[in-house]
Amino acid sequence: MVRFSGILAALATATTLLTPIVTAKSTLRKEELRARQLEAVKRWQPVKRDVQATQNITFSNPKASEFYVDGKSIPEVDFDVGPSWAGLLPISANANETRKLFFWFFPPAQGGSLDDMIFWTNGGPGCSSLEGFLQENGPISWSYGQAKPTPNDHAWTKLSSMLWVEQPVGTGFSQGTPNITNEDQLAAQLVGFLQQFLEVFKELKGKNLYLTGESYAGTYVPYIASYIYAHPTALSLKLQGIWIADPSLSYDIIQEQVPAVDFVRKYENVFSFNQTFTAQIEAKAQKCGYTGYIQKYVTYPPKGQLPYPGNSSHISKDCDVWDDIFNAALIINPAFNVYRIFDTYPILWDVLGFPGSFEQVQVSPIYFDREDVKKAIHAPVSVNWTECSEGNVFTGRNGDTSVPSALSVLPGVIEKNNRTVIIHGTADFILLSDGTRIVIQNMTWGGQQGFQTPIKNDSFLVDGVGAMGTAHVERKLAYVEVVQSGHMVPQFSPKTAFQTMQYLLGFRANP
Ligand SMILES: *[C@@H]1O[C@H](CO)[C@@H](O)[C@H](O)[C@H]1NC(C)=O
Ligand SMILES: *[C@@H]1O[C@H](CO)[C@@H](O)[C@H](O)[C@H]1NC(C)=O
Ligand SMILES: *[C@@H]1O[C@H](CO)[C@@H](O)[C@H](O)[C@H]1NC(C)=O
Ligand SMILES: *[C@@H]1O[C@H](CO)[C@@H](O)[C@H](O)[C@H]1NC(C)=O
Ligand SMILES: *[C@@H]1O[C@H](CO)[C@@H](O)[C@H](O)[C@H]1NC(C)=O
Ligand SMILES: *[C@@H]1O[C@H](CO)[C@@H](O)[C@H](O)[C@H]1NC(C)=O
Ligand SMILES: *[C@@H]1O[C@H](CO)[C@@H](O)[C@H](O)[C@H]1NC(C)=O
Ligand SMILES: *[C@@H]1O[C@H](CO)[C@@H](O)[C@H](O)[C@H]1NC(C)=O
Ligand SMILES: *[C@@H]1O[C@H](CO)[C@@H](O)[C@H](O)[C@H]1NC(C)=O
Repeated sequence: MVRFSGILAALATATTLLTPIVTAKSTLRKEELRARQLEAVKRWQPVKRDVQATQNITFSNPKASEFYVDGKSIPEVDFDVGPSWAGLLPISANANETRKLFFWFFPPAQGGSLDDMIFWTNGGPGCSSLEGFLQENGPISWSYGQAKPTPNDHAWTKLSSMLWVEQPVGTGFSQGTPNITNEDQLAAQLVGFLQQFLEVFKELKGKNLYLTGESYAGTYVPYIASYIYAHPTALSLKLQGIWIADPSLSYDIIQEQVPAVDFVRKYENVFSFNQTFTAQIEAKAQKCGYTGYIQKYVTYPPKGQLPYPGNSSHISKDCDVWDDIFNAALIINPAFNVYRIFDTYPILWDVLGFPGSFEQVQVSPIYFDREDVKKAIHAPVSVNWTECSEGNVFTGRNGDTSVPSALSVLPGVIEKNNRTVIIHGTADFILLSDGTRIVIQNMTWGGQQGFQTPIKNDSFLVDGVGAMGTAHVERKLAYVEVVQSGHMVPQFSPKTAFQTMQYLLGFRANP
């Protein structure tokens, strides 16, 4: 940051003779800048800045002690995160079961509810939920560019117990060979794991259960919920609701291609494309039936079932405008990040070494691949941990063969849940919020198709801040769009993610 000392400073001095004084902004001292930022950070902190200390939960099964993690001895973490339990448990009671999932369980912090348990999974498929733990909603925050881990003011453990699970088999530290081809099998294996978990941690039986996740978990979570509703005696937990962020709900043509050029128009000064290229993508969107799709079909209420542009859920090669945009964005900004479009060069360092947009060699090893970290959390030292698995977690030739959740199980799950939250960052270019609006307006639940009344601007009111997007609730489905948030809402907008979780758990009336 450059401070100009010449003419502007002289002018600033001259103006001090007059009152009231507004200091020339170019001469703002760094301390003043920092003070203003710190003041703003305080506004984001929860009203009651309670300590990290967790509530005392004891588990009577002696096996539980094998999983105990000492909150004072987690590498690089210089504060006590309290007691937690982590390790591997099998997905069935078979003595010869080779498939095991890795979990990390935290009891609630002081003031959190002992009646509830939140399950979290990341997406991928094949991405580790320890990403969510360390960079989104866990008690420890070590996000991009942070020099060291810090306490997370917006940890979901402040609300309830939390269970992060690396699933399905083939993800993170999990053990065994993947052998699933669809979401029902995924759900059956996860429920099998949860049964084993509840045998060790019996005191958690009977809790209210909330299933949460982001991205491809928009497919996982509704299918897991649907499986639990279809097998009501399988689990000694009371499923109450789901929360999915920037979820994969439908085909890419709807969630990526149709809204892509509208998105570029909305953020034209961020993309800063030249006029020739802009004209090219406008022409392609027109030819492929994307232009005007939203204005025509995304109405409140909808006028009927929504078609695919060109009558196909597949993207023809010359209609892939999303990749054109991504490639062009990288030319003028090599750090362009589809998960958060505001990033610029150089690429931020990430202690989890995310393999997508952040291919950067790190000075220190990836956090969960360190031997001391693995030992502290009872993870298998022999596994080379990566945030997203290189192998396929679905073994079929075509990956996951299940129909997208919004076109299958999600409507029924919304009807059975007490509350459902779909939240979407508006600065996400891997899955676009306008695409999610299309999905919702084509979905029939609670006897009607889509939302019946328009989503109002500035309707998402965040405590102590004000409007940060839109929020709309109809027939038990809450849809929230968060301004300035990228794909990982709890990472990029922890305050809004936290508030919507309070809503999901029934701790507040509105999201
Ligand atoms: C938890 O238990 C420990 C040891 O019994 C005790 O010192 C501590 O005060 C307890 N904390 C709470 C919040 O009850
Ligand atoms: C594992 O054990 C179960 C019964 O517990 C049995 O049905 C199954 O065939 C065994 N599988 C293998 C691979 O041994
Ligand atoms: C995966 O393998 C296990 C053990 O061999 C078997 O019991 C199970 O049915 C298989 N699952 C699928 C979906 O094929
Ligand atoms: C809209 O929903 C109907 C009924 O589920 C489905 O047949 C159709 O493919 C959907 N259209 C889009 C664009 O997803
Ligand atoms: C899509 O299919 C419907 C029914 O088959 C047809 O009426 C319509 O003209 C087709 N639209 C396009 C763009 O091909
Ligand atoms: C305009 O942008 C496109 C896509 O990035 C690029 O290929 C082309 O060279 C640019 N043209 C000019 C004149 O900068
Ligand atoms: C882990 O990585 C090391 C070093 O690259 C390699 O030697 C080892 O075989 C890998 N282990 C596994 C289980 O893939
Ligand atoms: C869910 O709804 C049921 C029935 O309306 C109610 O008894 C229960 O308290 C609700 N649970 C939560 C956590 O809101
Ligand atoms: C909501 O805001 C958008 C711009 O962000 C604007 O185009 C639109 O007209 C607004 N809608 C209403 C109902 O005011």
